[in-house]
Amino acid sequence: MEMERKVSMSFNVYVTRRIPDAGLEIVEKHCGKYDMNPEDRVLVRDELLEGVRGRDGVLCLLTDTIDADVFEAAGPQCKVFANYAVGSNNIDVEEATRRGIVVTNTPGVLTDATADLAWALLFSMARRIVESDKFMRTGKWTGWGPMQFLGADITGRTLGIVGAGRIGSAMAKKSRGFEMKVLYYDTVPNAELEKALGARRVELDELLAESDFVSVHVPLLPETTHLIDAAALKKMKKTAILINSSRGPVVEEKALREALKNGTIAGAGLDVYEKEPIAEPGLEKLDNVVMIPHLGSATKATRSKMAELAANNLVAALKGETPPNCINPEALKA
Ligand code: GLV
Ligand code: GLV
Repeated sequence: MEMERKVSMSFNVYVTRRIPDAGLEIVEKHCGKYDMNPEDRVLVRDELLEGVRGRDGVLCLLTDTIDADVFEAAGPQCKVFANYAVGSNNIDVEEATRRGIVVTNTPGVLTDATADLAWALLFSMARRIVESDKFMRTGKWTGWGPMQFLGADITGRTLGIVGAGRIGSAMAKKSRGFEMKVLYYDTVPNAELEKALGARRVELDELLAESDFVSVHVPLLPETTHLIDAAALKKMKKTAILINSSRGPVVEEKALREALKNGTIAGAGLDVYEKEPIAEPGLEKLDNVVMIPHLGSATKATRSKMAELAANNLVAALKGETPPNCINPEALKA
């Protein structure tokens, strides 16, 4: 045991931004000294290229763009980039594979937190929570009124899940208490969801046309970029609400702004944006959108579990083991 630890102390690791201690403790225990971005902000490009130089492994975040230049800067000895996120669209995984660099993510531990957040957006929008909270705070309320802040029903309505993977399925399952009808669109059938909820797999057009709430849970890929564009928004009910807690570019934000402004759809709840940290100008003027700053996995317990998972993935790859959440196992054969 002691021997093994001594050998593993030689790993040279870089962490691109402070993550919860649970992860840093694992890195420290298995790699000895490691370096970390000393500031609580995203590294600028040159700092990232400098930070990764000569490292055996890097623990990175979804806000870091990891491409060929970064792998080149890291050097041929580099074994792993462990992403502190379930999404991996910030990493050129194909390029990593070509270079024999393992890429890992943090699935599972953030599924419920992210689905819970999508529900929070759905409720906030349907029952106009943010809009009416602002109204209260600014002292505008003069008393109960029969026509004040009328929202949309949730119980018994139709929920459309775009992308029935882990998070989409969790979102769907949580609808049981609200006795909702569930439709889903995915490239593969989800037998479990069909059995548990009587969910029906439909084409995207049918889902858009029939759902009262459309919640997006696909990964960002070339084929999901702008999946929800102007034409898709037009197919939705005028009374429908769109929720996006996946990745910003899945929804064409300019088209969404116009659809919200023109009443093509009733509302939207957004956690993610095309050009984070900027939301499409004009959205902030609209009352029928709730916007929060990419908080899907942002609970104390979840972020701690993500840190542990990312660190365990990093350490496993450095030791030459197959990490629990390797997204390019081909790289191990390269
Ligand atoms: C967050 O967006 C993640 O991919 O973990
Ligand atoms: C991500 O974890 C998903 O499969 O939805």
